[in-house]
Amino acid sequence: MAKNGKAKLHPTKHPLNANLRGSMVELLQKHLGTAIDITYQTKQAHWNVKGMNFIAVHKLFDELHETTEDYVDNIAERLTALGGQAHGTVQASSENTVLDPYPLDLVKSEDHLKRLADSYAKWSSELIKGIEEASEAGDDLTEDLLTEVGRGIDESLYFLESHFQSA
Ligand SMILES: [Fe+2]
Repeated sequence: MAKNGKAKLHPTKHPLNANLRGSMVELLQKHLGTAIDITYQTKQAHWNVKGMNFIAVHKLFDELHETTEDYVDNIAERLTALGGQAHGTVQASSENTVLDPYPLDLVKSEDHLKRLADSYAKWSSELIKGIEEASEAGDDLTEDLLTEVGRGIDESLYFLESHFQSA
Protein backbone atom coordinates (compact mmCIF):
# COMPACT_ATOMS: atom_id res chain seq x y z
CA MET A 1 0.00 0.00 0.00
CA ALA A 2 1.23 3.49 -0.82
CA LYS A 3 1.40 5.99 2.01
CA ASN A 4 -0.16 9.42 1.44
CA GLY A 5 -0.06 11.69 4.45
CA LYS A 6 -0.94 9.47 7.40
CA ALA A 7 -3.37 7.19 5.56
CA LYS A 8 -2.11 4.18 3.60
CA LEU A 9 -3.98 3.65 0.34
CA HIS A 10 -4.64 0.65 -1.87
CA PRO A 11 -4.07 1.16 -5.60
CA THR A 12 -7.29 2.26 -7.34
CA LYS A 13 -8.45 3.87 -10.57
CA HIS A 14 -10.56 6.26 -8.49
CA PRO A 15 -10.35 9.66 -10.23
CA LEU A 16 -9.62 11.80 -7.15
CA ASN A 17 -5.92 12.35 -6.50
CA ALA A 18 -4.17 10.28 -3.85
CA ASN A 19 -3.37 13.16 -1.45
CA LEU A 20 -7.00 14.24 -1.40
CA ARG A 21 -8.18 10.65 -0.92
CA GLY A 22 -5.64 10.22 1.88
CA SER A 23 -7.01 13.17 3.80
CA MET A 24 -10.63 12.03 3.23
CA VAL A 25 -9.71 8.54 4.49
CA GLU A 26 -8.32 10.11 7.68
CA LEU A 27 -11.46 12.21 8.06
CA LEU A 28 -13.71 9.17 7.49
CA GLN A 29 -11.68 7.03 9.91
CA LYS A 30 -12.60 9.47 12.70
CA HIS A 31 -16.29 9.35 11.75
CA LEU A 32 -16.20 5.54 11.44
CA GLY A 33 -14.81 5.26 14.98
CA THR A 34 -17.44 7.69 16.23
CA ALA A 35 -20.25 5.83 14.44
CA ILE A 36 -19.19 2.49 15.97
CA ASP A 37 -18.90 4.13 19.39
CA ILE A 38 -22.38 5.70 19.25
CA THR A 39 -23.87 2.47 17.89
CA TYR A 40 -22.93 0.74 21.14
CA GLN A 41 -23.72 3.75 23.32
CA THR A 42 -27.33 3.38 22.13
CA LYS A 43 -27.25 -0.37 22.94
CA GLN A 44 -25.78 0.36 26.38
CA ALA A 45 -28.81 2.64 26.98
CA HIS A 46 -31.23 0.10 25.42
CA TRP A 47 -30.04 -2.68 27.73
CA ASN A 48 -29.74 -0.77 31.00
CA VAL A 49 -32.49 1.87 31.02
CA LYS A 50 -35.15 1.59 33.75
CA GLY A 51 -38.17 3.73 34.67
CA MET A 52 -41.91 4.18 34.15
CA ASN A 53 -41.48 4.96 30.43
CA PHE A 54 -39.26 1.88 30.01
CA ILE A 55 -40.75 0.33 26.91
CA ALA A 56 -40.86 3.59 24.91
CA VAL A 57 -37.23 4.55 25.54
CA HIS A 58 -36.02 0.91 25.35
CA LYS A 59 -37.48 0.76 21.82
CA LEU A 60 -36.30 4.26 20.86
CA PHE A 61 -32.69 3.40 21.80
CA ASP A 62 -32.86 0.27 19.64
CA GLU A 63 -34.18 2.28 16.69
CA LEU A 64 -31.33 4.76 17.12
CA HIS A 65 -28.93 1.80 17.19
CA GLU A 66 -30.26 0.48 13.88
CA THR A 67 -29.98 3.90 12.22
CA THR A 68 -26.37 4.34 13.29
CA GLU A 69 -25.45 0.82 12.14
CA ASP A 70 -26.33 1.90 8.60
CA TYR A 71 -23.98 4.87 8.99
CA VAL A 72 -21.15 2.59 10.14
CA ASP A 73 -21.41 0.59 6.91
CA ASN A 74 -21.85 3.60 4.63
CA ILE A 75 -18.89 5.47 6.13
CA ALA A 76 -16.62 2.39 6.07
CA GLU A 77 -17.46 1.68 2.43
CA ARG A 78 -16.89 5.26 1.29
CA LEU A 79 -13.50 5.04 3.01
CA THR A 80 -12.64 1.78 1.24
CA ALA A 81 -13.96 3.11 -2.09
CA LEU A 82 -11.32 5.85 -1.79
CA GLY A 83 -8.60 3.19 -1.42
CA GLY A 84 -8.44 3.26 2.38
CA GLN A 85 -8.27 0.45 4.89
CA ALA A 86 -11.22 0.66 7.31
CA HIS A 87 -10.25 0.50 10.99
CA GLY A 88 -13.52 -1.02 12.17
CA THR A 89 -12.61 -2.89 15.34
CA VAL A 90 -13.82 -1.85 18.78
CA GLN A 91 -10.20 -1.21 19.85
CA ALA A 92 -9.46 1.02 16.83
CA SER A 93 -12.76 2.83 17.25
CA SER A 94 -11.98 3.65 20.86
CA GLU A 95 -8.88 5.50 19.61
CA ASN A 96 -10.60 7.24 16.69
CA THR A 97 -13.93 8.30 18.23
CA VAL A 98 -14.54 11.97 19.06
CA LEU A 99 -16.96 11.03 21.86
CA ASP A 100 -16.31 10.84 25.60
CA PRO A 101 -16.65 7.36 27.14
CA TYR A 102 -20.27 6.50 27.96
CA PRO A 103 -20.75 5.98 31.73
CA LEU A 104 -21.43 2.33 32.62
CA ASP A 105 -23.57 3.06 35.68
CA LEU A 106 -26.48 5.07 34.15
CA VAL A 107 -29.96 3.67 34.88
CA LYS A 108 -32.69 6.37 34.80
CA SER A 109 -34.20 7.11 31.39
CA GLU A 110 -33.61 10.86 31.77
CA ASP A 111 -29.92 10.24 32.43
CA HIS A 112 -29.57 8.04 29.33
CA LEU A 113 -31.55 10.50 27.16
CA LYS A 114 -29.41 13.45 28.28
CA ARG A 115 -26.13 11.57 28.00
CA LEU A 116 -26.97 10.25 24.52
CA ALA A 117 -28.03 13.78 23.51
CA ASP A 118 -24.52 14.97 24.53
CA SER A 119 -22.97 12.34 22.25
CA TYR A 120 -25.27 13.14 19.32
CA ALA A 121 -24.60 16.88 19.68
CA LYS A 122 -20.84 16.28 19.77
CA TRP A 123 -20.96 14.11 16.66
CA SER A 124 -23.22 16.64 14.93
CA SER A 125 -20.66 19.40 15.49
CA GLU A 126 -17.85 17.15 14.15
CA LEU A 127 -20.01 16.33 11.12
CA ILE A 128 -20.45 20.03 10.36
CA LYS A 129 -16.65 20.40 10.37
CA GLY A 130 -16.28 17.25 8.26
CA ILE A 131 -18.81 18.45 5.68
CA GLU A 132 -16.85 21.71 5.37
CA GLU A 133 -13.53 19.85 5.08
CA ALA A 134 -14.84 17.53 2.35
CA SER A 135 -16.38 20.47 0.53
CA GLU A 136 -13.16 22.50 0.61
CA ALA A 137 -11.19 19.44 -0.55
CA GLY A 138 -13.57 19.02 -3.52
CA ASP A 139 -14.84 15.54 -2.56
CA ASP A 140 -18.55 16.05 -3.26
CA LEU A 141 -19.54 12.46 -2.54
CA THR A 142 -17.91 12.36 0.91
CA GLU A 143 -19.50 15.75 1.58
CA ASP A 144 -22.87 14.29 0.52
CA LEU A 145 -22.45 11.20 2.73
CA LEU A 146 -21.53 13.25 5.81
CA THR A 147 -24.45 15.60 5.07
CA GLU A 148 -26.84 12.62 4.97
CA VAL A 149 -25.40 11.26 8.23
CA GLY A 150 -25.59 14.73 9.81
CA ARG A 151 -29.25 15.11 8.85
CA GLY A 152 -30.04 11.77 10.51
CA ILE A 153 -27.99 12.53 13.61
CA ASP A 154 -29.75 15.89 14.02
CA GLU A 155 -33.13 14.15 13.77
CA SER A 156 -32.06 11.62 16.42
CA LEU A 157 -30.85 14.48 18.64
CA TYR A 158 -34.31 16.05 18.30
CA PHE A 159 -35.97 12.72 19.28
CA LEU A 160 -33.75 12.51 22.37
CA GLU A 161 -34.10 16.14 23.45
CA SER A 162 -37.88 16.23 22.97
CA HIS A 163 -38.16 14.16 26.17
CA PHE A 164 -36.87 17.00 28.33
CA GLN A 165 -37.18 20.12 26.17
CA SER A 166 -40.56 21.54 27.28
CA ALA A 167 -40.22 24.81 29.19
FE1 LIG B 1 -32.92 -5.70 22.36
